Amino acid sequence: MDVNNILVVGSGAMGSQIGMVAALAGYQVTVSDISAPMLEKAQAQLRSRMDNSVAKGRLSLEDAAAALGRLRFSTELAKAAASADLAIEAATENLEVKRGIFAALDAAAPPHAILATNSSTFGSSKVADATGRPGQVCNMHFFNPALVMKCVEVVRHEGTSQSTIDTVLAVATRMGKAPVLIEKEIPGFVANRLMGAIRDEALRLYADGIASFEDIDTAAKTALGHPMGPFELMDLVGLDVSHQIRLATFAETGDPADLPHPALTELVERGNYGRKSGKGWYSYDGVQQ
Ligand code: 3HC
Repeated sequence: MDVNNILVVGSGAMGSQIGMVAALAGYQVTVSDISAPMLEKAQAQLRSRMDNSVAKGRLSLEDAAAALGRLRFSTELAKAAASADLAIEAATENLEVKRGIFAALDAAAPPHAILATNSSTFGSSKVADATGRPGQVCNMHFFNPALVMKCVEVVRHEGTSQSTIDTVLAVATRMGKAPVLIEKEIPGFVANRLMGAIRDEALRLYADGIASFEDIDTAAKTALGHPMGPFELMDLVGLDVSHQIRLATFAETGDPADLPHPALTELVERGNYGRKSGKGWYSYDGVQQ
């Protein structure tokens, strides 16, 4: 299926950058959010990112302007959905919110449109039955920062059609990503399960007083060649997001081992969410978010 128009629902760190990636790949894109101030913030951040890429010689001024010209921002979900060939939902990790969005998208989008969720927590089977087109629903899971990270996990639920999978894989490839097909829904899919295993061990080592979190990060970078240590990564992803993912996983598995680590809960309860709040494990005064 030909995809020309993409709608991204949610203008947080993920949604806004997914929209920019799509616009850079030549798609006509609308990023939609219920909050106009969030949309304004997203637009300003993306403009600044494009300015940086131009300044570094990574992108021509013309290409940046053309991509920004293909990117629209709207608080009117139904209107934006009416012309979408593909909608990518990147709203908060709350199932009821997501189900509401999928029902609204199903009502407003053309019959051929594919409805994908960027959720890392909920397999698309959890939202597919809120629509009348479950075969056209799947996960399209990007990684933070979406402008940079190449992986996109495309996850099918039992009823996802092959043509939906083929189309979403083709879109991800055109976006310059390296899509990975996940054949069965499983909590955490693949990449987050790998990352979670490392993060859990890092939190245990820290909580047991074996090493400081800074030194654990240093070991991950200098011994294992990871671009960031597990604590830096939690700050990037958002401690609240990591916390919420664990709670949702626990709700699904009932396994106490899936509960968030107390050290993580403590920071979240203090409002230290990572880079976006200026403080998490580390402090980020004056750092571009
Ligand atoms: N948003 C967009 N672009 C960013 C960025 C951000 N937040 N942070 C850095 N960048 C860009 C920079 O502009 C730069 O671009 P350029 O090459 O065109 O100049 C490039 O990334 C490299 O940045 P820096 O030189 O400043 O710093 P690094 O070389 O350390 O790279 C990094 C930064 C790309 C974030 C790198 O540290 C990295 O890959 N970290 C690991 C990230 C990771 O593991 N992400 C997965 C998280 S898990 C997830 O998202 C799943 C979800 O379900 C929770």
